[in-house]
Amino acid sequence: MADAKNSFYLTTPIYYVNDAPHIGHAYTTVAADMLTRWHRQRQEDVWFLTGTDEHGQKVMRTAESNGVTPQQWADKLVDEAWVPVLNTLNAKNDDFIRTTQPRHESAVQEFISKLHDQGDIYAGSYEGPYCVGCEEYKQAGELLDGTGEHEGQKVCPIHGYPVEMLSEQNYFFAMSKYQDRLLAFYEEHPEFIQPASARNEVLGFVKQGLQDLSISRNTFDWGIPLPWDSEHVLYVWFDALLNYMTALQKNVDGEDTPELFEKYWPASVHLVGKDILRFHAVIWPAMLMAADLPLPKTIFAHGWLLVGGEKMSKTKLTGIAPSQIIDVFGSDAFRYYFMRAIQFGQDGSFSWEDMAAQYNAALANGWGNLASRLAAMVGKYFGGALPQAGEFTDADQHIADVAAKAVADAEAAIDAISPNHAIDAVWTLVDALNLYITEQEPWKVAKDESLAGQGGRLATILVTAAEGLRALAVLLNPVMPIAAGKLWDSLGAEDYLGALDAQPVATAGEFGQLKPGTTVTKGEALFPRLEDTSN
Ligand code: ME8
Ligand code: MG
Repeated sequence: MADAKNSFYLTTPIYYVNDAPHIGHAYTTVAADMLTRWHRQRQEDVWFLTGTDEHGQKVMRTAESNGVTPQQWADKLVDEAWVPVLNTLNAKNDDFIRTTQPRHESAVQEFISKLHDQGDIYAGSYEGPYCVGCEEYKQAGELLDGTGEHEGQKVCPIHGYPVEMLSEQNYFFAMSKYQDRLLAFYEEHPEFIQPASARNEVLGFVKQGLQDLSISRNTFDWGIPLPWDSEHVLYVWFDALLNYMTALQKNVDGEDTPELFEKYWPASVHLVGKDILRFHAVIWPAMLMAADLPLPKTIFAHGWLLVGGEKMSKTKLTGIAPSQIIDVFGSDAFRYYFMRAIQFGQDGSFSWEDMAAQYNAALANGWGNLASRLAAMVGKYFGGALPQAGEFTDADQHIADVAAKAVADAEAAIDAISPNHAIDAVWTLVDALNLYITEQEPWKVAKDESLAGQGGRLATILVTAAEGLRALAVLLNPVMPIAAGKLWDSLGAEDYLGALDAQPVATAGEFGQLKPGTTVTKGEALFPRLEDTSN
């Protein structure tokens, strides 16, 4: 996935600050964090960008109804919700862009001036139904008939709220002239839009014919003024999409950062939800074509978290805050659950019952118990010092083979942007190790003195399990960094293998890395069993 520069630049959408984050936003951010942590452990040069989308009518109206200015509202939401949630999720982004930052606004103005000067932007007028939730003019044909309180009105198919008829003098981006170039690009780069369902949707849409895009609004002023006509503010999507580039052009202090742009542009992956696929797969590449800039390598559109069969959202009051779940299960379990339980690219739903069941089965009883049993046995039988292994049998070799295959399969899944398959692949090693311990019965072997010393059968079993756990710490670090870090500490190998974050995934499956004599300690449980709250 990384190019010759060995760099990997991944972005999340920049989220609207009209409301606080719910688990739908967290889902994208966690996926981005897992993928970038994995790529960092491939020793690639990684940049992970997230941020907030602060202009437009939606944010402006929310601020008005709360009796503050849009800037005050945005500042409050960013400080109190959008930045803190990254910590809650344990996401390690490299930069956080806000579209109200001067570094962004100035670079956006430069970009649109160029398009205007070269004749890609012209004045016109537009009338049509607009969804403020989407911040988008809709086609009449895609609207639905409202029901209940919206009976007799046309509603947006995504938000379920009535659209508003707008009629404005605006400026237009001559997007239609890029239609053929876009289609040719999609054809030449099948990896550009993923997964296949998303690609098909976009191909179908563009083949129907592209219209020019209205890119300014003049009935309100919460946006970036057009440099050539300050009566207009730039359409919020044109403003927002540019964040992926402007964040590399200048840092928060406004200093030019040509080295970042050089290293990371074009982006490796823009991760988005399928609700905003077309903006990223049609408008954004057309904008870049117009500016004669290289296009991102992949737009990946994941599915929706559903509640009652509908997209979870704050406007429909179905949003769950990430902390509601994380306060109970912890951030590792949150990350594990959403990354594994839902096929990335498809819709999925969350239930407390399923989450609790997975937590106990896979984390507390699966991985966590394995780790504590090994540490307990090294403590009990060898005084806490990893013994010298003896000759390996087929059963031991099988574990090494499973580990090697887990690495290869997980690497392929990461390249395919399939976090759930990557975790499935790694979990084959958790399962194989649990089975191995059950079958090898080290507690029985320990009773035979001739098998229980250095270089004996018992030592070989424990070393094999310890090597498997070492591989698991490395491979699960991108998903569950807290538990993986505890396991790494318990294995005591940091002195000679180095920090966990620096362990390369490629060689994680190679056995024989732990040294005899290493102190193995039994720390606190990786995943304490949930207290039974039913009584
Ligand atoms: O669209 N399931 O911001 P936004 C899964 N500002 N993912 C979900 C989700 C759900 N139910 N709800 C939200 C915007 N998301 C623009 C983006 S980018 C240049 C500008 C995630 O606050 C998913 O990634 O509405 C979705 O695309 C994004 O949040 C929309 O966030
Ligand atoms: Mg939205």
